[in-house]
Amino acid sequence: MNIDNQLVVINTPKNKYLSVVENNKEFITNEGKFKFSDIKKIPSLVTTSTGVDFQIYSPTYKEFVLLMKRGPQIIYPKDVGQIIVESNINNSSKVLEIGSGSGALTLYLYSLLKNSGKLYSLDSSKINQRRANKTITRYLSTYSKETVDVTFINEELSNFNFKSLDEKFDAIITDVPEPWDFFIKNTIENSIVWVSYLPSITQIIRLNEILLEKNFQDIEVKEVILRDWIVEEKIVRPSNKLVSHTGFLISAKYIKY
Ligand SMILES: C[S@@+](CC[C@H](N)C(=O)[O-])C[C@H]1O[C@@H](n2cnc3c(N)ncnc32)[C@H](O)[C@@H]1O
Repeated sequence: MNIDNQLVVINTPKNKYLSVVENNKEFITNEGKFKFSDIKKIPSLVTTSTGVDFQIYSPTYKEFVLLMKRGPQIIYPKDVGQIIVESNINNSSKVLEIGSGSGALTLYLYSLLKNSGKLYSLDSSKINQRRANKTITRYLSTYSKETVDVTFINEELSNFNFKSLDEKFDAIITDVPEPWDFFIKNTIENSIVWVSYLPSITQIIRLNEILLEKNFQDIEVKEVILRDWIVEEKIVRPSNKLVSHTGFLISAKYIKY
């Protein structure tokens, strides 16, 4: 099994690292070191110079996006889960994502849509789109050799006219500060679900007004608050660490009769 260049989690007694196997190199921490060439398969246990076992395995989606190097702030997994439900997408949906950023949401959407759906992802920054593409390619290459088929649109939202894509979207999902700029050049003409992730309630208030003005219905605003629990023999209680606020979600649907 050739594991050179594979993406792995290195789980030590005190830390979790995301790394790429480089056969001619060593992995060094203050808990001990080992040679990558000591990894014969994935998953495996590798004993370090200090006699400690490190676990080496392929990352889950959550581990990958939380440990990966980021550019723009990512959407946290707890919010990704709710976005998928609110956007009502399935594996054959056609989705327009606005704000590719670091690609954390793009990766999840693509994993869902890749076989029979279609994903377009718009961002005004080429650098961020390259990063998003790298995020997807890097993660998926752990599991298969497929080429990534996301259509990246490099455009400022206020200049974007989605008719140019000649596609009927089932959902539009945004993570940009001013999602209402979409309506500068676009009018919704088919049934569609809209979901926006926005950090500040003032943005939600503005988008809510615009969605009403554009005849969207069933507008819902929510916040996902997730509390981890510690379960250890006699200690069973909520963790004292809490990511208290990430962003609000606003969802709505437009029905074309
Ligand atoms: C917070 S990031 C998105 C993060 C992404 N959802 C993730 O999970 O990794 C926002 C992105 O939107 C892009 N953006 C912001 N305003 C924009 C606009 N008006 N038009 C196009 N892209 C925009 C930025 O370049 C940035 O990459």
